[in-house]
Amino acid sequence: MAERRDVVIIGAGAAGMMCAIEAGRRGRRVLVLDHAKAPGEKIRISGGGRCNFTNIHAGPKNFLSANPHFCKSALARYSPRDFLDLVERHRIAWHEKTLGQLFCDNSAKDIIAMLLAEMKAVGAELRLSTAVSAVDHDGHSFRVVTENGVVEAASLVIATGGKSIPKMGATGFAYRIAEQFGLPLVETRAGLVPLTLDPATLAAHDGLPGVAVDVIARHGKTEFREAALFTHRGLSGPAILQISSYWREGEEIALHICPDVDFASVIAAARRQNGRQAMQTVLAEHMPKKLAQLLVNDLGINGSLAEQSGRSVEALIQKLRDWRMRPPGSEGYRTAEVTLGGIDTAALDSRSMAAKTVPGIYFIGEAVDVTGWLGGYNFQWAWASGHAAGQDA
Ligand code: FDA
Repeated sequence: MAERRDVVIIGAGAAGMMCAIEAGRRGRRVLVLDHAKAPGEKIRISGGGRCNFTNIHAGPKNFLSANPHFCKSALARYSPRDFLDLVERHRIAWHEKTLGQLFCDNSAKDIIAMLLAEMKAVGAELRLSTAVSAVDHDGHSFRVVTENGVVEAASLVIATGGKSIPKMGATGFAYRIAEQFGLPLVETRAGLVPLTLDPATLAAHDGLPGVAVDVIARHGKTEFREAALFTHRGLSGPAILQISSYWREGEEIALHICPDVDFASVIAAARRQNGRQAMQTVLAEHMPKKLAQLLVNDLGINGSLAEQSGRSVEALIQKLRDWRMRPPGSEGYRTAEVTLGGIDTAALDSRSMAAKTVPGIYFIGEAVDVTGWLGGYNFQWAWASGHAAGQDA
């Protein structure tokens, strides 16, 4: 005999738990299944253990999707303020770090405990360490086959996330289910991911790993002003992670180093004051010494300021404004914070996240082709899309 519920949610991550709370609040009998031993593992490790749980500025412009309008409805109906109200009701202390990013003062585990308490309050049941081997639909109900038996439900919500960090149990399960039910997919790729550099560039960057600098990172017309970090494999840091979501393998990115500094004036003034100084000494007043050294070496600038030709100073200023690099690749899903692409939003109702062609099945969270910037936006999408499906499932 199969068990029966009104709603089965596969995936006890941010989106799945929010959906369970909202469906449970409507009096639906909800069961959440997850193959992991603990719920919300990505919440636990997020934001360096403090969970950047939302961004007060979150709006449709902060998301990438083949249809940039799709996310509008869900985001409008469940806002960062709504999630913050929930956080405050649970007396979880929080702070704004930068750029509207809200973090727990104490621990990301507070967010998981809050979601579990809300699920319990509405009677939503959670079953962990339960792998799902098959899903089918008999025209009336979904049958979810697990190693511990079969569960039937009128509504099935797929909240199993994307492919990032396979070591944490990411599986691509949602895409397989979408394919099984004939829903289209937008090609997936790693997003918010460090970029790699070729061996020759890395050799030239010897000594740079660990160095961080304020930049504007650009790809085409898209730009982000944050820190970039040189690593043993290439480039990371928030500015690089942000731009990586717009970049495609082999394409060029450009860095504007220390955009607040007018290097033309700085160099001209330094030359007037003391022409015997070395160029790297002047640059190093505004950036890490190792980076200043690399930049002058790269352009073959030797000797004192007074000895530099106008052309070599101009070349340096140009490089500081527009340092082009062509990363051959990224670190991939192993370290990516998110998966771009996923279930094609053309197949989903933007109000409810329900599949248009298969009544009763919903896709939410990172599995869907809606991907946020770095800075709390991806959780806001998980909450908002989970909330939208929870109102309907
Ligand atoms: P999520 O991946 O959270 O949950 C999916 C659940 O489904 C998991 O519990 C998994 O075990 C389960 N599952 C998968 N396959 C299954 C299967 N076959 N059967 C059963 N269960 C299955 N975002 C942000 O806004 N602020 C932040 O601070 C961070 N920080 C951050 C750090 C790191 C290191 C990473 C990797 C990611 C972030 N993110 C983030 C992104 C954020 O974590 C992510 O977008 C959300 O967790 C997505 O929520 P979902 O519920 O869609 O998937």
